[in-house]
Amino acid sequence: MCGIIGILGLTPVAPLLVDALKRLEYRGYDSAGIATLERGSLERLRAEGKLRNLEAKLAAAPRLGISGIGHTRWATHGAPSERNAHPHATERLAVVHNGIIENFRELRTELEAAGRRFSSDTDTEVVAHLVTVLMEAGATPHEAVAATLPRLTGAFALAFLFEGEDDLIIGARRGSPLAVGYGAGEMFLGSDAIALGPFTDEIAYLDDGDHVVLTRSGAQVFDEAGKAVERTVTRSQGTTYVVDKGNHRHFMVKEIHEQPEVVGHALAHYLDLARGEARLPEGLDFAKADRLAITACGTAYYAGFVAKYWFERLARLPVDIDIASEFRYREQPLSKDGITMVISQSGETADTLASLRYARSEGQRIAAVVNVRESTIAREADVVLPLLAGPEIGVASTKAFTAQLAVLAATAIGAGKARGVLSGTEEASLVRAFSEVPRLMHEALKLEPQIEALARELSKVRHCLYLGRGTSYPIALEGALKLKEISYIHAEGYAAGELKHGPIALIDEEMPVVVIAPHDRLFEKTVSNMQEVAARGGRIILITDPAGRDAAAIDTVETIVLPAMPAAVTPLVYAIPVQLLAYHTAVIMGTDVDQPRNLAKSVTVE
Ligand code: F6R
Repeated sequence: MCGIIGILGLTPVAPLLVDALKRLEYRGYDSAGIATLERGSLERLRAEGKLRNLEAKLAAAPRLGISGIGHTRWATHGAPSERNAHPHATERLAVVHNGIIENFRELRTELEAAGRRFSSDTDTEVVAHLVTVLMEAGATPHEAVAATLPRLTGAFALAFLFEGEDDLIIGARRGSPLAVGYGAGEMFLGSDAIALGPFTDEIAYLDDGDHVVLTRSGAQVFDEAGKAVERTVTRSQGTTYVVDKGNHRHFMVKEIHEQPEVVGHALAHYLDLARGEARLPEGLDFAKADRLAITACGTAYYAGFVAKYWFERLARLPVDIDIASEFRYREQPLSKDGITMVISQSGETADTLASLRYARSEGQRIAAVVNVRESTIAREADVVLPLLAGPEIGVASTKAFTAQLAVLAATAIGAGKARGVLSGTEEASLVRAFSEVPRLMHEALKLEPQIEALARELSKVRHCLYLGRGTSYPIALEGALKLKEISYIHAEGYAAGELKHGPIALIDEEMPVVVIAPHDRLFEKTVSNMQEVAARGGRIILITDPAGRDAAAIDTVETIVLPAMPAAVTPLVYAIPVQLLAYHTAVIMGTDVDQPRNLAKSVTVE
């Protein structure tokens, strides 16, 4: 949440800051701002709303300074307004912040008692004042920042720019990510490699607790104890991707259509299609493991939920699946021979990272399924299973979800083989089934016109239910999440068998019920649940296959018919119609599909 950037440049930095903020907008987009040094004097420009509002202000009042910091915000403390937009400033410095300063109330009371005047409702502003107070007492900028950091509790990535200091930016991180970019006579600081992409691909990631002093001639990094340290400079891969919508109207629909290729890529990496074998990543001893704990947030959690079914069925490995914000505090005992698997597209989600650290403290071996390979979660895990999906820009996750499913399915097959549950023939037959997924996804995408027409109907409703059984249950949960997050229609997913234990009270003629029901061993059970809905006048939208369509014998508002496929692969393919349904409903409703209200792509706060 929140993106930060700092540049010590050779030419005016304002356009570069804005360019970087565009690439960081996925982290938050309710306000944005920059501070530059104009002939040594700090000048801020901030605007509520999307980045284009800041751009418009800049066009009217160009800035020429060659040193600057910038921020795009996802509000935590204080409403999204210009007054609360970053940078926050005093007469001495400007600061941008990603994270939450948890003890800001005490600090603010202390500072106000000492006569400091605040001009925002944010937690961040205390940092600006703490550093300023120390500088007024004679500390250098570096001394003042170093002395302030231990006073802060919570998570932060910070970048400071100082009045009169044209060759200095100081950065610091604890909990939230921060990377240093090395240019020729220029230096950069940013939340991630994607932000720094247009400027440099030479990146050093700060460790937790580090702070860094940047000048145009280089960076000096200090660890939590204040000791000067070296952090490895690597050539980043994140910078080579083009972040572009191509011919598509939104990133989300572009990413939906990329799925056959992305999933094909992931499967080819984790499955040996020619030999019919799964390639298990080194360092995970599934044969010895007695339990697998999976934890993640949101869509990544639903991918893990599908994986629970796969690991239990294909590898007879018991799986505990937890939402990361619960896992981290639940204090559950984890067994000595267990594996913990964390799933995160961004690799920066605060709760998922904290869960990883909890599992590590319990002596678990940690596998991380991540898209961003240089992320904190990837760096802290024992074994990294990359998604290889390319940057996902749409805030609503689509291609990362199906890539997660592909990686998890391949790993479950490998675990099944390693545990002696699957024979070589069974393994080969599963590998063959998954190798068909990209083709099946192409077929699913061809149903887009039908789904778009259906979305016209769905866009008129206020509420919607999604039902499924087995691995279709997490797909129902994911379908409901997609719909609510981008169309703002209230939607809930339920295990179909749970309907009669309460949610059925919601069914009336107004209620659409999306039923995800491939013709598998649970199909008949789901048909019974559909009958219960139909008997109460509910409007059924059935997503099934030809055999399911023929066997359902039920009145539906619409039946979406996917090709027949083996049961194990259905989650990957059935994800596509629910994504398209949410997408087209949102487009018809005119919402901001790629940047829905109140959300951010990377949730680095609790
Ligand atoms: C929903 C969505 C979120 C994320 C969740 C975890 O479409 O994208 O629910 O899945 O915030 O994010 P990562 O995977 O980055 O840990």
